[in-house]
Amino acid sequence: MLLYGISPFVLSVNHVFALIFLACLLTVVKLLIVRRKGVKTMERFPGPPAHWLFGHVKEFRQDGHDLEKIVKWMELYQFAFPLWFGPSLAVLNIHHPSYVKTILTTTEPKDDYAYKFFIPWLGDGLLVSTGQKWFRHRRLLTPGFHYDVLKPYVKLISDSTKVMLDKWEVHSRSEESFELFKHVSLMTLDSIMKCAFSCNSNCQTDSGTNPYIQAVFDLCHLVNLRFRVFPYHSKAIFHLSPHGYRFRKAASIAHNHTAEVIRKRKEVLKMEEEQGIVKNRRYLDFLDILLSARDEHQQGLSDEDIRAEVDTFMFEGHDTTASGISWIFYNLACNPEHQEKCRQEIQQALDGKATLEWEDLNKIPYTTMCIKESLRLHPPVPGISRKLTKPLTFFDGRTVPEGCTIGVSIYGIHMNSTVWENPYKFDPLRFLPENVANRSPHAFVPFSAGPRNCIGQNFAMNEMKVAVALTLKRYYLIKDPDHTPKMIPQVVLRSLNGIHIKIKPVEND
Ligand code: HEM
Repeated sequence: MLLYGISPFVLSVNHVFALIFLACLLTVVKLLIVRRKGVKTMERFPGPPAHWLFGHVKEFRQDGHDLEKIVKWMELYQFAFPLWFGPSLAVLNIHHPSYVKTILTTTEPKDDYAYKFFIPWLGDGLLVSTGQKWFRHRRLLTPGFHYDVLKPYVKLISDSTKVMLDKWEVHSRSEESFELFKHVSLMTLDSIMKCAFSCNSNCQTDSGTNPYIQAVFDLCHLVNLRFRVFPYHSKAIFHLSPHGYRFRKAASIAHNHTAEVIRKRKEVLKMEEEQGIVKNRRYLDFLDILLSARDEHQQGLSDEDIRAEVDTFMFEGHDTTASGISWIFYNLACNPEHQEKCRQEIQQALDGKATLEWEDLNKIPYTTMCIKESLRLHPPVPGISRKLTKPLTFFDGRTVPEGCTIGVSIYGIHMNSTVWENPYKFDPLRFLPENVANRSPHAFVPFSAGPRNCIGQNFAMNEMKVAVALTLKRYYLIKDPDHTPKMIPQVVLRSLNGIHIKIKPVEND
């Protein structure tokens, strides 16, 4: 049928165009309003000039120099400066302990931009969740990190570390440089699987690339990319893009990995229940806690909640420590005199024993200081963020309104020359008790601070101590002068070109 000589088809195409135009117009108007609000919010905070459309995104090229840029700007803009990610998203980047204290002592939620990109992967787990749900789960899971639970982990972590060190024999014989991040990732994955999920994997000895570790690497890269590429902030655009497709594929690999861990455990629990051996089986691990949790109405966690927490802990529990341990090895390789002091202390603590025990963890204070100094120079989580639900006033009287996103640059705080003298120098003595006492506790925050600090920090410190002690007992770590790692913050601190060192056996020296 023709209507005034125009077919209904043509009419509907015109309508579609009109609707698209209207939607674009509305989006632009919305962006302009949000942008105006952002500009007003940041009025009192001078910062580096930003492109009207890209903001500062193009300054961060992921070429190994992004963190240097933050330090350069920190020197120009004391305490804080705005960073724009696209035309409308402004983040107030803070890098001074007094500023950091103001935000981290509150219970303000995680920012809903950066963290929401994790949700399709990590669900509404502890890292992302807010309000009552976060509080309930945090309280539920905290006993999973009690020292009674952590104690037997020392043996499990030692076993995983030894598997890694055995694999390193070949590199010690050839004395050729090798990339260690991938070895350490497999070791920390093996450890967390054993400790938190009582799951023995052969991930360290299986041949080929581990699909879960590769998936986590891709997911971190894609979450980071999504934050940087402004159009990808739209769910629909990201979903339809090739990157969105890669994200879904990687998330599905990660989910299959964790689903299998849960499935196997449920099977074991069922069998044990049938045989009446639930109570005297072994310590309660993290997965037991999740599966047996009951609220006041005897209601357990939903399957979705359990999976979100398993996904969160599987990722947080291995990738962060892999970064921490890899950078510690690198820093010790670059500082042989400190390495040797650690080795002597470790040999003394071990007193001829082959492996470290729980009681030995406190007998290596110099090594602990070196670990902390490495966490300062190379924080495994270089930045975090919060979104304000109410106005916040900093110690210098400057106020930011509700809705403002605050980026806490952990790297920036650790490199702040007004707090740390000669910040690039590896100097473990900064962590002597008398020096710590003279500094703000918020000057060193690798595990964040306040109510949303890292729940796994004791686990992580223990794992790092065990891994460093057993490694230094067996090998000398030697710097590879031809290979300087280029730091890139991709959720976790990684190196663009890997982290390479050489090793030599201790007994053959
Ligand atoms: C060197 C190793 C580690 C470092 C540097 C580290 C650092 C951090 C930081 C900075 C946060 C705050 C994140 C934010 O505010 O967005 C955090 C939170 C968290 N970490 Fe760790 N972490 C490490 C190891 C671990 C381990 C081994 C686990 C688990 C076994 C873990 C589990 C978590 C969880 C679940 C949260 C969220 C806590 C909450 O919001 O209540 N982390 N971590």
